Amino acid sequence: MKKIALLLALCLTNMSFSQGNTHKQQAGKFEGLAMTPPMGWNSWNTFATNIDEKLVKETADIMVSSGLAAAGYNYIVLDDGWMTHERDANGDLVPDPEKFPNGMKSLIDYVHSKGLKFGLYNCAGTKTCAGYPGTRGYEYQDARFYAKLGIDFLKYDWCNTEGITAKEAYATMSNALKTAGRPIVFSLCEWGDNQPWEWGKPVGNLWRISGDIYPCFDCEFKHPENWSSWGFMKIADMRKDIRKYSGPDHWNDFDMMEVGNEMNDTEDKTHFAMWCMLSSPLFTGNDYRKMSKETLAILTNKELLSVNQDKLGIQGFKYIILDGVEVWVKPLSDGAWAVSFVNRTETAKKVAFDWSKNNFKDIDFGYEADFSKTTFKIKDLWKNKETGNTTKVFSASIASHDVITLKLIP
Ligand code: GLA
Repeated sequence: MKKIALLLALCLTNMSFSQGNTHKQQAGKFEGLAMTPPMGWNSWNTFATNIDEKLVKETADIMVSSGLAAAGYNYIVLDDGWMTHERDANGDLVPDPEKFPNGMKSLIDYVHSKGLKFGLYNCAGTKTCAGYPGTRGYEYQDARFYAKLGIDFLKYDWCNTEGITAKEAYATMSNALKTAGRPIVFSLCEWGDNQPWEWGKPVGNLWRISGDIYPCFDCEFKHPENWSSWGFMKIADMRKDIRKYSGPDHWNDFDMMEVGNEMNDTEDKTHFAMWCMLSSPLFTGNDYRKMSKETLAILTNKELLSVNQDKLGIQGFKYIILDGVEVWVKPLSDGAWAVSFVNRTETAKKVAFDWSKNNFKDIDFGYEADFSKTTFKIKDLWKNKETGNTTKVFSASIASHDVITLKLIP
């Protein structure tokens, strides 16, 4: 009896259990794969299911040649639409041979040869959102398939999941990936419907917190099928109390970016600043082959990226709204803070921010900036220029939908 209890205890502490004679099931995500928010490119926002080998190769080439890779973007993720509509005779998924005439493996090898990483998409349901074979009932088989292909990232969606529980479905796939043995970042795309922030930390490395993004500042786009996509400021506002759940290796994911798509450069700049303030994963969603130099400059802004990639990994929060100008703040490592003034209105606004009358308190993580006790140097991150300190009122004019991002250095 004692022996059995000991064996059981050993099994539980290892979080592994044997299945038959040959398989050893592992539980829990691969730890440590996303200690700062992951960065890369995802096909969905611009291309939907119109993806192919040529697009991926060109995107990988430009990721390297443009400086995006040097700035930190390294995952190339193919979203929905990479497979055929049926599994093969063995039940394996089939990469679409028309879109990928040389097979998926050789494409992945190509992406890896450029020093980049590769990701794929599937869904916890019976079918993906676009109607391709989902993973339900094939979790371990699909995980082995991905490990063999050599992918590094899996986005796992939530369409056609009637009758299953999110927490269990995502845990099953997480365990399957762990058992397959290849470290793969696991991206939960469940839209926040079942509070993944409450149970996602041991399961995945990032989780979506909202429905899909739409390339606008503050709109709601209503689809005819009775669901909505959201402007980026709407998403930023959507879940007020979940920042305490986000951090290194377990990120709140505000969705792939729309920078370089349908908004103007001012709105793109604010979108990017917000995703940096929120410590969101940074997946570009534009066509690199048509990227303007302004878009590239926004996406590769080193100062803003250092806010997003700060090792503390604390998600920022809205501190106050002053006449339509939102003040977002984010504690950074070494006692610094990032501060963004976002003009949410349709007209230009003047700000006169008296630091001495403000005191930033982060009640979730216990950080505080008391400007009566500490003077901070101020750096304007978009201008890459020092601009005084917090003993003086900060005055500036901000165009409609524009942002000013400052770093306060103690
Ligand atoms: C859902 C996801 C999107 C995208 C599509 C693909 O809507 O939220 O990000 O993956 O499915 O069909």
